Amino acid sequence: MKTKAIILNNYPKFTPSSKDVDCISIQLDNFPSETVLIRLLFLSVDPYMRNRLRPEGTHYIKPLEIGKPIISMGIGEVIESKTVKFKSGDLVIGMFPWQEFAVINANAAKPIRQTTLPITTQLGILGYPGLTAYIGINKIAKPLPGQTIFISSAAGAVGSLAGQLAKIHGCHVVGSTSSQEKINYLIDYYHYDTAFNYQQYREDYASAIKKYCPHGIDINFENVGGKLLEAVIECLNLQSTIVLCGAISQYNSQNPRQGPNNFHKLNSKNAKLIGYIVTDYDHLFDEFQQYIIDQYLKGKINYHETIINGLGNAWSAFIGLFDSKNIGKMLVKI
Ligand SMILES: NC(=O)c1ccc[n+]([C@@H]2O[C@H](COP(=O)([O-])OP(=O)(O)OC[C@H]3O[C@@H](n4cnc5c(N)ncnc54)[C@H](OP(=O)(O)O)[C@@H]3O)[C@@H](O)[C@H]2O)c1
Repeated sequence: MKTKAIILNNYPKFTPSSKDVDCISIQLDNFPSETVLIRLLFLSVDPYMRNRLRPEGTHYIKPLEIGKPIISMGIGEVIESKTVKFKSGDLVIGMFPWQEFAVINANAAKPIRQTTLPITTQLGILGYPGLTAYIGINKIAKPLPGQTIFISSAAGAVGSLAGQLAKIHGCHVVGSTSSQEKINYLIDYYHYDTAFNYQQYREDYASAIKKYCPHGIDINFENVGGKLLEAVIECLNLQSTIVLCGAISQYNSQNPRQGPNNFHKLNSKNAKLIGYIVTDYDHLFDEFQQYIIDQYLKGKINYHETIINGLGNAWSAFIGLFDSKNIGKMLVKI
């Protein structure tokens, strides 16, 4: 049978563009034993994928291959099965190619855990973005009631949950994002205490942080990096913690990337900076999912998804992450 696929043409030098991929028709071969034929239902687009678009990749994930389909987390329905592990109609999750139909090794697919939440949340608050927020807040930051936490890219998949988890711990939660609509979401829906539009403070991020965190920052959950992180360091309290989750403002730059030039101030502030990679915490998935479901049922957690329709629009959904197009988790419905 034939299926549509999104193929990588080249590694983008700076911000990804539509020229980097092609949507083509490919032939699916007869599939061997221990594989399943799946129909893709949803694909996740995530900032870390930018690191797979470099020939060198990173230490924790290989580069995507030129001439091959893009790969990301996805949800599919089994159409035909050549393994006892799955039967037709099963819903599965895994790292899947950007195709409408795909033949997947049975070991590369996991059954979807049925919960009270829709299956799409397995790519969002119950998936890796959720686990990232959970590890960063509950296991690394371990915030105390009354502490001020500042979260950048607050209205995204990770940031929106991180803020709500910090609120559950009794923190004063402050976020930065790019529009008034997102600020409203943060305060009215995601339980943030306050938030500001960083675009309006491009010349002086520190003045915004001082205004919105008048007692300084005890914990910074950092998603953006660069000049914003530099401003954060200026506003840190003594004994504070930076949880370095990501640095999206730098992902499309070539080396050398912009770093904070006041890094040495962590020393005089007795501050610590801790980085982490979520996949090192796979063993905590069950505990994390149960915690999120419990908090959701208590009304302590909300989630939102920005859903783009059609495999042909998947690449622009990915590019949209770097253009602030999403509130909550960015997904593609196939
Ligand atoms: N450590 C880990 O294992 C791990 C795992 C998952 C994700 N992460 C990191 O967590 C962060 C958030 O990921 P996510 O999946 O939740 O993505 P996301 O926040 O849902 O989406 C990306 C958002 O980043 C913001 N952004 C894009 N370009 C920017 C720039 N130049 N300057 C400032 N903000 C920019 C935009 O929001 P605005 O409207 O605010 O501009 C955009 O909506 C990323 O840094 C990602 O790499 C780390």
